[in-house]
Amino acid sequence: MSTDTFRLRYIAKSVAGVPKDLVQSAVSHVTAIKPTVFIFNCTWVCDAKCEMCNNWKWGNRKEDITLEQLDTVMNSDFWNQVENLNISGGEPTTRLDLPEMVELFHRRLPRMRKIGINTTGLTPARAIPMLTRIVDFCGEKNLLISIRVSIDGVGDMHDQVRNVKRGFDKASQTIEAMQALAARSPHFQFGIASTIFSKNLDDAKNIHAWAKSKGLDLVFNMLRFTDNMLHNRDLEAEIGFKSREEKFMRDFFLDRVAEESVFSGQSFMYLHYADMIANGYHRTMPCPFQRQGLLLNPNGDLFFCENSEKLGNVLETPAAELYFGKTQLDGREKLKRETCPTCLSPCQVNVGAMKQVVPYVQFLRRAYKVKHDPSRHLDTLPKPVR
Ligand SMILES: C[S@@+](CC[C@H](N)C(=O)[O-])C[C@H]1O[C@@H](n2cnc3c(N)ncnc32)[C@H](O)[C@@H]1O
Ligand code: SF4
Ligand code: SF4
Repeated sequence: MSTDTFRLRYIAKSVAGVPKDLVQSAVSHVTAIKPTVFIFNCTWVCDAKCEMCNNWKWGNRKEDITLEQLDTVMNSDFWNQVENLNISGGEPTTRLDLPEMVELFHRRLPRMRKIGINTTGLTPARAIPMLTRIVDFCGEKNLLISIRVSIDGVGDMHDQVRNVKRGFDKASQTIEAMQALAARSPHFQFGIASTIFSKNLDDAKNIHAWAKSKGLDLVFNMLRFTDNMLHNRDLEAEIGFKSREEKFMRDFFLDRVAEESVFSGQSFMYLHYADMIANGYHRTMPCPFQRQGLLLNPNGDLFFCENSEKLGNVLETPAAELYFGKTQLDGREKLKRETCPTCLSPCQVNVGAMKQVVPYVQFLRRAYKVKHDPSRHLDTLPKPVR
């Protein structure tokens, strides 16, 4: 299906929830509210060995939470406000019980409206039937689903970044099958995601042109370093952006703003990334994880977000106790003061955006200006968020 149709459905679902969202958002400033956004890294086992992510070094199937354990963890009213679920890893499709996992989340998350899955697509014989079953299940249950295959270069560059032989060809098979599935599934948004850094910088424009020629929706990730999510803090010194990458990426993001609709989630993210590169990495976009998010890792370790301290382990202590614990909530206040102001995480940032009406309108005005004259970008820089 077209991305526009999906977007309209998503907006319709979101708009229906706006009055409640606004109340919740206001309440979240005075008291802790239950999570509405949830990321589950279901395994660190992986079928690639990427240069910018170290999750593949942490794969250990024996440590992965089982479905039975997950069902016990999720069997609580605590989870009943979650609307957006993202399943990532590691490589989610290495878990043969992934379809049953999605069914479990559907049973245990009564307010869930949208599921996102990131995949390498590198094992098409396994991934295609599995993802097809998941997409069809979501259709039956009236859930929106978004799947992205990661592509970090066209042809050989992809194989070099991911250290997988014939990786681009394998991922392309999954992409083709998913595109065909999306064409008959109005609730399914399919696309690709790219992470650009020094190694594949020169391929960024090729990826963009290739995706366009194939009619593929494409998201560029901003390079970042986080141990809770990518185990890659130790890569920062070596592959973090230097001035060449910063200059290229700022212009590249502004080009994307010029090209995208100002109403697209991507445009919102790209403008804020360009802001952060220009302003010395002061965050200018909101984040739902500051007040209403959770991240669960494969061994049951729970975090407020990809940069928070560990709250505890859900196999030992109920998630609600960890989330609402005084020490943990104090830790979240410290995180907001000390870490959020320079954090690059994009996780579910559009959820936050929609719930903050005034900043969103300000963004639309800025994006409109930058779209028509990118050289005015610096004049439009907003104040960092607190
Ligand atoms: C961690 S992977 C997990 C799912 C799956 N293994 C994959 O590669 O799509 C999720 C997304 O994070 C992106 N990613 C990897 N390293 C990154 C980094 N250092 N900064 C930003 N995004 C990164 C990947 O390209 C992918 O699109
Ligand atoms: S980016 Fe994805 S495929 Fe690459 S190592 Fe990390 S988890 Fe594995
Ligand atoms: S540290 Fe980053 S991901 Fe965590 S709440 Fe703050 S802005 Fe969000």
